[in-house]
Amino acid sequence: MFRHNGGNFLLRRKQTSAPRVTDMSYQVTIEPSGHRFTVGGDESVLDAALRHGLVIPYSCRNGTCLTCMGKVVEGEIGYPGGEPPDCLDETAVAVGQALFCQARPTSDLVIEVREVRDAGDLAPRRTRCRVAGMERLSRDVMRLYLKLPDAERLAFLPGQYIDILLRDGRRRSFSLANAPHDDELLELHVRHIEGGEFSEQVFFNMEEKALLRMEGPYGQFYLREDDDRPILMMAGSTGIAPLKSILDHLVHIGNRRAVHLYWGVRERQDLYLDGELRALAEGCSWLTYTPCLSEPRAEDAWEGRIGLVHNMLLHDHPELGSHAVYMSGPPAMIAAAQRDFHRHGVDPDHLHQDAFEFAADSRPDLTAGTQGSTTTD
Ligand SMILES: Cc1cc2nc3c(=O)[nH]c(=O)nc-3n(C[C@H](O)[C@H](O)[C@H](O)COP(=O)(O)OP(=O)(O)OC[C@H]3O[C@@H](n4cnc5c(N)ncnc54)[C@H](O)[C@@H]3O)c2cc1C
Ligand code: FES
Repeated sequence: MFRHNGGNFLLRRKQTSAPRVTDMSYQVTIEPSGHRFTVGGDESVLDAALRHGLVIPYSCRNGTCLTCMGKVVEGEIGYPGGEPPDCLDETAVAVGQALFCQARPTSDLVIEVREVRDAGDLAPRRTRCRVAGMERLSRDVMRLYLKLPDAERLAFLPGQYIDILLRDGRRRSFSLANAPHDDELLELHVRHIEGGEFSEQVFFNMEEKALLRMEGPYGQFYLREDDDRPILMMAGSTGIAPLKSILDHLVHIGNRRAVHLYWGVRERQDLYLDGELRALAEGCSWLTYTPCLSEPRAEDAWEGRIGLVHNMLLHDHPELGSHAVYMSGPPAMIAAAQRDFHRHGVDPDHLHQDAFEFAADSRPDLTAGTQGSTTTD
């Protein structure tokens, strides 16, 4: 067990076994922010911090990359297996450094570590990834699961996106639909664009195990957790992807803020997560879910809301001044909503948006000879 108290780090005795899984929970205080959270059972400090919506830097989550390193200022920790991970050398251990993705508290702790409070705190990085799964969600949306190399995880804030890098360096942006704590696989919802370079590849040429290159995380569209305003969410089409990430994160941290989600698509078959979202809303008293169709077909037998999604939202919430608004999806929807939401008093500091613009370089570049972004092996 490794103990640090009042600046004097003491190696009391080396553990020869993993910390016991117990019902004990310990209080951890982060310095300098003063944020506090509870670590229970056999949780690592990092997992518990993420569960409380507090992001500290991390990458591999398996004790090999040092990204999550910070200092134990007070208290005791242990590691699974008894010894600190190999990459943490003795000098670092002697001055109280710990790897929080592995460390388990065995007492209350005060730790010193940088906290990620803003998307700018997370440096985007470039990595390879493998297509670990593909699922056709609707006629024109494919769910892609991406797996990073074994020793890597992507730290991101719920709502952010990544760029898929094409062979000639051009890129295509896609929002992450999984929540940050659930990062074994990254989840994308790719809409098929007629003639679209990447999405046509996904729909017609891609197979599981294909290799891609990606860069991220990016974006200022992420959940502001310090804010306690009720939340209005509005998605058009695959704009639901980053909102799903935010919703899964809110569930994970035991949210109590009221959230009303509107999801607008053309026809009933485009509501590709409808069942999942209805079930989520039934299980969460704080969540209301309103799907809207703009052009339902007769065979849809739709008895729900019909019209443009931002009009539906304004019909129900004509006063926006006290809400935080998060909206993502087609640029035309975002532009119309922006204009009308301002008329209804939305506070610009609490209006967050991701317009799914297509790539500026997406016109076919015949000189580049690009065949696509994947390789298989
Ligand atoms: C921050 C951000 C997040 C995004 N997240 C997602 C996401 O989660 N899911 C998703 O499906 N898309 C998302 N997009 C949009 C996506 O990046 C683009 O649609 C992308 O260009 C599609 O790549 P492609 O290679 O298939 O088509 P491209 O080769 O880029 O496009 C071919 C042609 O199709 C047209 N086109 C391209 N995209 C669109 C579009 N969206 N609407 C209408 N016409 C288009 C253009 O005229 C273009 O010349 C996001 C965009 C941004 C900026
Ligand atoms: S050592 Fe990589 S995240 Fe902890």
